[in-house]
Amino acid sequence: MDRPVKLGLLGLGTVGAGVCKILQQNREVISHRAGTDFEIAKILVRDLDKPRAVKVDSCLLTTDVTDILGDPEITVVVELMGGLEPAYEYVHAALDAGKHVVTANKALIASHGARLIRLAASKGVDLYYEGSVGGGIPIIKPLRESLVGNRIEEVMGIVNGTTNYILSRMTQEKADFVDVLAEAQALGYAEADPAADIEGHDAAHKLVILASLAFQTPISIHQVYCEGISQITAEDIAFAEHFGYTIKLLAIAKRQPRGIEARVHPTFVPNRHPLAAVHGVFNAIFVRGDAVGDLMFYGRGAGDLPTGSAVIADIVDVLRNRKRGAHHRVETLWQPIPVEAIGDVRTRYYIRLHAVDKPGVLAQVAASFGAEGVSIESMIQQGRGQDQPVPIVFITHEVEERQLRASLARIASLPSIKHIASVIRVEGGLR
Ligand SMILES: NC(=O)c1ccc[n+]([C@@H]2O[C@H](COP(=O)([O-])OP(=O)(O)OC[C@H]3O[C@@H](n4cnc5c(N)ncnc54)[C@H](OP(=O)(O)O)[C@@H]3O)[C@@H](O)[C@H]2O)c1
Repeated sequence: MDRPVKLGLLGLGTVGAGVCKILQQNREVISHRAGTDFEIAKILVRDLDKPRAVKVDSCLLTTDVTDILGDPEITVVVELMGGLEPAYEYVHAALDAGKHVVTANKALIASHGARLIRLAASKGVDLYYEGSVGGGIPIIKPLRESLVGNRIEEVMGIVNGTTNYILSRMTQEKADFVDVLAEAQALGYAEADPAADIEGHDAAHKLVILASLAFQTPISIHQVYCEGISQITAEDIAFAEHFGYTIKLLAIAKRQPRGIEARVHPTFVPNRHPLAAVHGVFNAIFVRGDAVGDLMFYGRGAGDLPTGSAVIADIVDVLRNRKRGAHHRVETLWQPIPVEAIGDVRTRYYIRLHAVDKPGVLAQVAASFGAEGVSIESMIQQGRGQDQPVPIVFITHEVEERQLRASLARIASLPSIKHIASVIRVEGGLR
């Protein structure tokens, strides 16, 4: 009988506890599927006395990382600490020592993934990170393995549950952003400091991982255009509804003739698109491949057990590879591809202006759009404002962002225009 493979866990917070719970619950079936018995030999934490969400033998806990990294019997390290440091240092050291690594750390993979993948390859070990995007949704493995027969054309996802919860509530309640954010914080769906979520940074990290895999190219977080949801108003949501759209924070990566688009921003999604029906804290990732067509992956994007489920799948993959001596099965030869500047991106736009209500204003605005080659698909002019500015709303045809910006600069300088209140991109054609 083989001796059980020893795992070292770095972290026993939400996800670490989820992994332990699943192992306690389904241990036999997981070992059977892995074809190998295994055990958690050590768990790194900061505070040995902290109450834990799962019962574990206290002698497994340590605050000294060398109990894991320096133990030659521990061959698989599972990093569930989060953050860049010391997670990067520990993962680097584990790979360098010839240990396999499983992580759910999106910041780590988005920032240092290419370097760590090269190190793992040079050491002939595995580095898996299914839990880093979409929590329990299997998306990394499909992009890395199941879809290798395709040229991926686009990946478009709702990958942040907090912002999707806020936008869903704003849509249902016709409520304003600040009120719904306060409610989400009270319910624990948003952090006390929600900036990473609402400004789109968390989604941008996940997009780096998805786009790098989909297009087999190293993408840096600095190449992702990022805009959050804090400027979205109940008025925009009502206009979206009027035109047959739902507003979602999307992480979008597309293959274009001149390179790749990589952007995170609030987006008008047509109600017939499957992403429009993803509500609350759920996540979904829409993938278009040239052979397979349109696919959508949907599920719980966070939480102890869903994310634990993804981490366990990676652990089992490592154990299976280990049993067959088949590490580093997955091709990781990435070629550089340029990422387009946001000014070069072509899309449609929703624009909401506040204008003085007098004859000729619409003609001036139309002329400003026309002068920069922007053509209008739909328009609404609401109410008679007396002395108050009135909203005028447009949806454009597809146009280069640079042209759109130039037309908006012209419009902003018109004396009859009080304010350009919103500019939101429109996406989501289906085949
Ligand atoms: N939470 C989710 O739903 C979710 C979903 C997908 C991906 N992820 C990713 O999974 C990772 C873990 O997230 P989490 O929510 O489980 O985090 P968490 O609840 O904050 O847990 C972090 C754990 O790591 C330990 N830790 C942190 N820094 C340490 C250090 N310097 N030395 C020793 N131990 C340290 C903490 O120890 P103490 O307990 O002693 O403080 C804690 O046990 C992150 O990368 C996150 O982005 C999380």
